[in-house]
Amino acid sequence: MNAVSMSRRFALLAVASAAMLSACSKQEAAPAAPAAAPAAAAAPAAPAPAKVYVVGTDAAYAPFESVAPGGAIEGFDVDVVKAVAAKAGIEVKFVNTPWEGIFKTLDTGERDMVVSAVTITDERKQTMDFSEPYFNANQLIAVKDSSKVTKFDDLKKLKVGVQTGTTGDEVVQKLLGKTSTSIKRFESTPLALKELEAGGVGAVVADNGVVQHYIQNNPAAKFKSVSDASFTPEQYGIAMKKGNTELAKKVNEALAAIKADGSYDTIHVKYFGMKSTLTAAAAPAAAAPAAAPAPAPAK
Ligand code: ARG
Repeated sequence: MNAVSMSRRFALLAVASAAMLSACSKQEAAPAAPAAAPAAAAAPAAPAPAKVYVVGTDAAYAPFESVAPGGAIEGFDVDVVKAVAAKAGIEVKFVNTPWEGIFKTLDTGERDMVVSAVTITDERKQTMDFSEPYFNANQLIAVKDSSKVTKFDDLKKLKVGVQTGTTGDEVVQKLLGKTSTSIKRFESTPLALKELEAGGVGAVVADNGVVQHYIQNNPAAKFKSVSDASFTPEQYGIAMKKGNTELAKKVNEALAAIKADGSYDTIHVKYFGMKSTLTAAAAPAAAAPAAAPAPAPAK
């Protein structure tokens, strides 16, 4: 490609992204907003401007959500939600949101969805609704290569780092006691892992995908992972405001569709190098997604 066509492409890109930007900021821009209305009305086929669903995520949780060098939020969760949104015909916008207090933003209406590697738990189901599961996970222990830890019980002698209010925090509370001073709580999982590197804690307990990703991408940290049979399977879901059945229906139908048509698998392979155990298990049921909603799991 020569320099002229390159710069033409950039110019086109700039125009396109400027147009997208102005489209996105319609709701925020005060004086310009009324001017946009006649244009929208002039297009007969276009219905009222589509609602943009705001998705909250704590983007310090690679490979599920992280901030790319350019500032965009990227990751497995982002790709899944974008695919779901495309199927559902809705628009989404990701907003980086601290984990602490993230679920409250559903009730206040600041966020329409929380997609942040959120484990579906019975306790959380009391206060929010979840989509069908979109990822299988479990807890995993990170320790230094030189550590003698071989099982979860060995953590009783150590200071243990967790991200506040995560399922990792809950699991460690069960081992050490809710009020144990040996639990060191961090605002984010990367901060807990940095503290492990610095020697301030002897172990970190967090979701397997994140621990494995960190170990692979930070060889200088010299960590290894230790699993334990006591860690129960977890599943991630898209969290929505309790009672928002309209959105939940759209999301679940689209999720079933991307699981059925292979696009979910493509995303899973992109991030994890293999297909998900989730779609492998769900394959027969996915044949009739719209006909009957999945029955509640037997208790
Ligand atoms: N799966 C865990 C939980 O739901 C941890 C999720 C943390 N996510 C994040 N983006 N920091 O508690």
